[in-house]
Amino acid sequence: MKSKFERINRLPPYIFGQINSLKMKLRSEGRDIIDFGMGNPDMPTPLHIRQKLKEVIDKPGVGRYSVSKGINGLRKAQAKYYKKRFNVDLNPSSEIIVTIGSKEGLANLAQAITSRGDRILCPDPSYPVHPYGFMIAGAKLTPLQTFFNGQFDKNKFLLNIVNNLKKYSSIKVIIVSFPSNPTAQIVDLDFYKELVKIAKKYQVYILSDLAYSEIYFGNNPPPSILEVNGAKSIAVEFTTLSKTYAMAGWRIGFAVGNKTLIEALTKIKSYVDYGAFTPVQVAATAALNESQKCVEEIRETYKKRRDVLIESFERAGWDKIPEPEASMFVWAPLPKKYKKMGSMKFAKNLMINADVAVAPGLAFGKGGEGFVRIGLVENTQSIRQAAKNIKRYFNT
Ligand SMILES: Cc1ncc(COP(=O)(O)O)c(C=O)c1O
Repeated sequence: MKSKFERINRLPPYIFGQINSLKMKLRSEGRDIIDFGMGNPDMPTPLHIRQKLKEVIDKPGVGRYSVSKGINGLRKAQAKYYKKRFNVDLNPSSEIIVTIGSKEGLANLAQAITSRGDRILCPDPSYPVHPYGFMIAGAKLTPLQTFFNGQFDKNKFLLNIVNNLKKYSSIKVIIVSFPSNPTAQIVDLDFYKELVKIAKKYQVYILSDLAYSEIYFGNNPPPSILEVNGAKSIAVEFTTLSKTYAMAGWRIGFAVGNKTLIEALTKIKSYVDYGAFTPVQVAATAALNESQKCVEEIRETYKKRRDVLIESFERAGWDKIPEPEASMFVWAPLPKKYKKMGSMKFAKNLMINADVAVAPGLAFGKGGEGFVRIGLVENTQSIRQAAKNIKRYFNT
């Protein structure tokens, strides 16, 4: 039996696996773990979207194979969203594709465009499919330092990109994702202008993952890289309904922008899938086209949780926690007292001693060490209970 699986061997041990096993063990012992570990929205999908699904599911023919690149109406709805939200014009036939969640789109695009010897630049820490989608596809990875003395520094980050582009002619793709999972870091349009200029000069593609486009708490909604003039010549952007409409399990996302990349993704997807279930795509169309009041409510829920979490965790003895301006995560430095422990041991100890699960920063790359990611996926009552448990643990 030839059981050398080269692609699998490129993947490091899954750090979340250790945390999940511990969680399962403690739960099986009857422990009530408050789980901030995953970015898995807990609120219900808005009623009108669920109703649309119910309405469509009884129509004849909907159980047949759907359209791999997504139904027309859904691609048109996404074009309308980009026009209204970012003032970006997109051709629904050639510049938009529906994906089975943005994660699938990212992984399949990596498969579609990676050649032997290609290298990618990707922030460290990052959402795992960003580097590993490409590593599975055979690319080499250069992690981009994100924090400089504990702070994101836009100029140093961009300089680092330029220095790498000068060093490696094999770089094909730069990945960016702001608001960031896990760090909640945001950027402004000027950042994208600089980045597009660099990418054009060195003739590399940019993949921007804008999963948290609508989960923001201030007065400045996150921009799209496609707002930059001419960005479409080098950039593709991913968005998702998972967070905006609490539809993570429905698996609907999009890739939009550069025609060559959209065509490559369309081609590979035509070989490997038939698209999401048609009623789900129709309901997703309703999500984008109908009232956006539900999005405001979802945003408000995350904001309230953010405020309660920071206030109560700091009162429990956690040193200063930076307030995220967007995303559904709090990126918290380890309390000074536990700094030396490292994020993995701290996350395990927190679960064992306080019944609180968080994601260790190390799980998102070496650059995430020293932090934990706390998902805003528990209600305010559970957040307050978690703070009480944490206080008890910190005081022992
Ligand atoms: C940055 C980022 N991209 C993509 C995803 C996955 O989104 P989807 O559900 O559309 O696959 C997530 C989910 O947590 C994410 O944080």
